[in-house]
Amino acid sequence: MTDFHDGTRCVRAGLPEPAPGDPFLPGPVFAAPYHLDPWQGPAASANGYGRPDNPTRRLLEAAIGELEGGDCRVFASGQAAITGLLLAVLRPGDTVLLPADGYFPVRAFATATLEGIGVRVGFVPTAGPYPSFEGVRLLLLETPANPGLDVADVAALAERAHAAGALVAVDNTTATPLGQRPLDLGADLVVASGTKALTGHSDLLLGYLASRSAELLETVTSWRTATGAVPGAFDAWLAHRSLATLDLRLARQTANAAAVVELLAGRADVRGLRWPGRPEDPAYPVASAQMRRMPGVLSFDLGDADRVARFVEAARLVAAATSFGGLHTTADRRAQWGDDTAPGFVRLSCGAEDTADLVADIAAALDAAGPTRPLS
Ligand SMILES: Cc1ncc(COP(=O)(O)O)c(C=O)c1O
Repeated sequence: MTDFHDGTRCVRAGLPEPAPGDPFLPGPVFAAPYHLDPWQGPAASANGYGRPDNPTRRLLEAAIGELEGGDCRVFASGQAAITGLLLAVLRPGDTVLLPADGYFPVRAFATATLEGIGVRVGFVPTAGPYPSFEGVRLLLLETPANPGLDVADVAALAERAHAAGALVAVDNTTATPLGQRPLDLGADLVVASGTKALTGHSDLLLGYLASRSAELLETVTSWRTATGAVPGAFDAWLAHRSLATLDLRLARQTANAAAVVELLAGRADVRGLRWPGRPEDPAYPVASAQMRRMPGVLSFDLGDADRVARFVEAARLVAAATSFGGLHTTADRRAQWGDDTAPGFVRLSCGAEDTADLVADIAAALDAAGPTRPLS
């Protein structure tokens, strides 16, 4: 499918060869044990027991793997995939570098758990500057970073990290494999939450990891089997069904983000606007060179928590909710979760509503929210 464009690749990703009488995407296989061959036991079939093996999961893995350009293993959530990678790869005495401005539960996990088992943890801002990678075992990048939306140059950093003997993993949650292909840019591993735009319907949790290294895949697969951090068959099937529309959903979300950014850039009552697709944005030079398309997520500052609440309450098309990448436009005041952001900082995830409706609604809601205390 590599010779086709994004929409075609999404529609066809991971589907089995057509056979008369079969559905396009087979339904979920609900099984803990499977019938075994009485003589050969598990050697006779790929399906022996549901924790290591499930055919619905394998089809989803084939689909995501095709889009990322590597082999894929899915996990029960993004956190399961990321923490699984960190715990499977790192040993006491190793050094890992993590984004200082990325998804904050990863930082919390590193401090609470990794440091507790003797792993040295360093935090680096996504936009740099990056230190020497001598002695580093793993560099985890998150680009664009959630929620600040800074961007890291994956190819340049991977080259430097590899020269020093470090592994490079990229959290591809915000971009999705249509937004960028970290394995093509030189990363050893992609890790991501499939809960967000990848599946996009706000109805399931999913994580995945992709790589071209058989050895790394073996390590994380063994980890997953041992810890049991697998998604259920129904969620895997739902995710695969949703993946088929990724191109369509992203096209609308990106268009909506561009239009909302244009609106917000023209308003004196909105500060700190960030979107890597905006030519004035500090992330734009690297993002526009590295990314195949821009995310539907942007961020800005409304000054204080009260004004954010007034804005969201006044909006008809903006739901107060965390997560991002879904069909419905959502706003999340990140400080309410303990994220290291200003009180009025908002991550806005544009949904698939009609662009004109969304822009008009956001403009009206900002007007209705009124002014804030003077912004510093
Ligand atoms: C960049 C990033 N990575 C990982 C995660 C964790 O994913 P999940 O919520 O599926 O565990 C998130 C969740 O918001 C995220 O934004």
